[in-house]
Order: sequence, then C-alpha cells, then structure tokens
Amino acid sequence: MKAINVGLCGVGTVGGGTATVLKRNGNEIARRAGRPIVITMAANRDLDRARELVGDDVLLTDNAMDVVNNPDIDIVVELIGGTTVAKDLVLAAIANGKHVVTANKKLIAEYGNEIFALAQEKGVMVAFEAAVAGGIPVIKALREGLTANQIEWVAGIINGTSNFILTEMRDKGSAFADVLAEAQRLGYAEADPTFDIEGHDAAHKLTIMSAIAFGIPVQFDKAYLEGISKLDAADIKYAAELGYRIKLLGMTRRRPNGIELRVSPTLIPAGRLIANVDGVMNAVLVKGDAVGATMYYGPGAGAEPTASSVIADLVDITRLHTADPEHRVPHLAFQPSQIANLPILPIDEVETCYYLRLTAKDLPGVLADVTGILAEGQISVDAMLQKPAAAAGGTAEIIIVTHIAIEKNINIAIAKIENLASTHGKVVKLRLEHLNG
Ligand code: NDP
Ligand code: HSE
Repeated sequence: MKAINVGLCGVGTVGGGTATVLKRNGNEIARRAGRPIVITMAANRDLDRARELVGDDVLLTDNAMDVVNNPDIDIVVELIGGTTVAKDLVLAAIANGKHVVTANKKLIAEYGNEIFALAQEKGVMVAFEAAVAGGIPVIKALREGLTANQIEWVAGIINGTSNFILTEMRDKGSAFADVLAEAQRLGYAEADPTFDIEGHDAAHKLTIMSAIAFGIPVQFDKAYLEGISKLDAADIKYAAELGYRIKLLGMTRRRPNGIELRVSPTLIPAGRLIANVDGVMNAVLVKGDAVGATMYYGPGAGAEPTASSVIADLVDITRLHTADPEHRVPHLAFQPSQIANLPILPIDEVETCYYLRLTAKDLPGVLADVTGILAEGQISVDAMLQKPAAAAGGTAEIIIVTHIAIEKNINIAIAKIENLASTHGKVVKLRLEHLNG
C-alpha cells in the first residue's frame, strides 16, 4: 500500500528520536498502521546534524516552509518548538490541507483554539499526544478511554525537569543549578529552562488537559503558576517530618462556579503513589465519577519516549485520514459545538489545604495569637510543628498544616500574622493536596 509521507520540521532531541524509532520499528509500525509511514523530507537549521539523524534518502532543507508547501507531504510533524516559526508553519500546513503532529505544548496551550478552528474548517487532524507528559499516552486516555466519565479533577507531575531537580536535591542534596545543568545535558529541559522551573511548561500541559477534561477552550492566560525556584530546602525537610513530599503539581478541578487551573509546589501525603514519582518521570492522576481515580505514569521527557507519542499520533492519523472528518475524535474530546464557557477561577477562589511556615519570638501567647487569627478566618488547623529556638527568648519556626480553606482567607490571615509584633519576616505558604481517590 502507498506509504504515508511525513515532513519533519526540527531535527533536534525529539525530531532525532522520531527518525530513529521510525527507522528501527518501521516494519512493526506499518503492520499496525496498515501502510508504511516514511519521513521523506526534513527541515533543520543544521543540515549536517539532520543528515546524520534522518539518513541519506530524505530530502533536506533549512526552510520549514519548503516542507509545508511540498504537495507530496501528507503529515507535517512540527518539532521546532516556540510560537513563532512553529505557529506559522502549523497554520500554513493546515491551510494546505495537511494533517499536523506536534509536541509543542506552548503552541497548543496558547494558540490551540485558533489552530483547531482552522483544522476543523479544512477537515484535517492536529494531534498533540507528545505535548503532554512526553511518552505517557494521557491525551488518548483522557479523550477516549475516560469518555464515559464526568471528570472531577486532574492532577499531574508534568514537568520532568522540575521533578528531576526536586528529586536530586532531596535524595543527594545536590545544588539546584548543578541538577538543572544535568537536566539540560540530558535533553529534558526546554530551550529556555525558566519555562521548566517557573511552572510555565507544566501550566501549558495542564491547560491542555483541563480543556480536554472539561470541554472548555484552552486558556493558558488564566492559569495560575508558581515554580520551584523559590522553594526553600527547609520546607522540603519540614514537609517530610510531617509525612509529605513536595512536588511541582498541576491541579485542575471542576467546581460548581468554574474551573481551578493552577501549578505550584504542593505537599502530597508521602504514602500516595504519585508522591513517589521521582526523577524525570511524570504521572497524571485523573478522578472520574464512574471509574474513580486512575493514574498514568512514565517518562515525561527525552528523545525516544517523546518520539513514542509522536509516532502514535502518526499511526492514528494514518488509520483515520480516509475517515469522514465529522466522525473523527474531536481535538478537545468534546464536539466543537459543545465546548462550554465555564470560567477559570481566580487563585483567590481556590479551595485547598495549606502549609504555612512562620518565624516567631519564642514567648508565651504567640501561638494563641496565630491560631486566633486563623480561627477568625474560618481556617481550621490539621497539624502543627514547632522547631525550638536555640536559646530562651530566641525565634522559633512554627509550621502549620490547615484543613481545606479558601485562598483569600489564607492570604488575609497571613497578612495579619506578618503584622504581629511577635513574628518576623514573611510567612511561607505552600498548597497541599490529599489527592484522595
Ligand atoms: P530541540 O531544540 O532539541 O530541537 C529543535 C530543532 O529545531 C533543533 O534542531 C533546531 O535547530 C531546529 N530549528 C529551530 N528553529 C528552526 C527553524 N526555523 N527551521 C528549522 N529548524 C529549526 O528541541 P526538542 O526536540 O527538545 O523540542 C522540540 C519540541 O518538542 C518543543 O516544542 C518541546 O517543547 C517539545 N517537547 C520536548 C520534549 C523533550 O524531552 N525534549 C518532550 C516533549 C515535548 P538549532 O539546534 O540550530 O536551534
Ligand atoms: N521540558 C519538558 C520537561 C520536556 O522537562 O518535562 C517535556 O515536555
């Protein structure tokens, strides 16, 4: 049967992995897809490097638009990254009637609505499994496997670089900068690694999962994000003493008045499976009303794991491209006419548990003042830990874990605690999720 011709744009970590796996497993993939899937053209800035990775029989160019405009190409694979060239070439490919596969979460989270609308108009598919959690087929699970469910929440460790850094800092006491450099060397980090450590990358992925879980447009601009760069080693240690692990967690939850969409360093009970997802591994926990909690685990980054998802999309498109466009799986799982207009809730409206750490004079009545303020805000204390002062009259660290509270009440209480004459400096606030199935 006639082969499907793939045009590969970007032959870097993921592009190289895709070429390697397609070559190595080509026969097996063809048996599954029903026809061979072959890279016939590739674009890369460095043509020598591309030649090494894609082999001699692939047409090469340094202009990605040559791929998009080649009438012989059936599917364009965008693995350049960013939202400049990548966006232009994806929109041009769709306009030319070509299907698109991309691993670019930033592009989908920020411009997905525009891209899917054009794809629908042109009757082509845009597939993005590799954009979320690297090699884990979580988009497929959310969009198809869990389609019977009302999704209640999705929580994920979805940035391999941050998880790798937190794990190495905790287990080996390594310095933040050294572990980040190692993550870059291993090809885990984004071209600009601040996207990883400041939570943007995780928020891009969470935005995409939230849209698919709840049938809403992608709305990255409304996501709340906080990264790991300001996380203090002391909090990792105190959290462990209280029986928690800190992870960069993405959480999106359906509430009666809207959707929570947030990424932040979060305490998780140490006994939960997801709290033990370490290194570059990712995990996504999904709570559906019928199935209960299901967890998806695997490598969240790296050349071949991500290629695994890219190629799964190529096979899906190959199988479906002769089907009537109206009967394909919708991009965001829900039929385009059924996308809901639920608001994304501001971070002040979020309801969760909190970890607070404050420094206070070790004097009688201080704890009573602090707990009095919490009580005024309807904030109930779940656990408390006091680290004794070195000498009488010195300062002590007080760690408080709360039951579920509204974030704005927590912020009001923190402002009052910081104003007490008996406390020093800023109160550290981290969110805490029990993630009960
Ligand atoms: P790389 O930087 O390794 O690869 C990108 C490639 O595209 C490079 O070879 C780059 O060349 C080339 N390139 C850049 N601009 C152009 C251009 N204008 N025309 C032609 N080629 C160009 O990135 P990754 O492979 O790591 O990432 C690719 C995408 O996959 C990104 O969207 C990323 O977020 C996503 N992703 C990455 C994962 C990973 O583990 N790395 C996992 C999941 C998703 P040059 O080197 O000269 O800049
Ligand atoms: N930089 C990303 C990560 C790559 O570390 O998870 C995978 O999307």
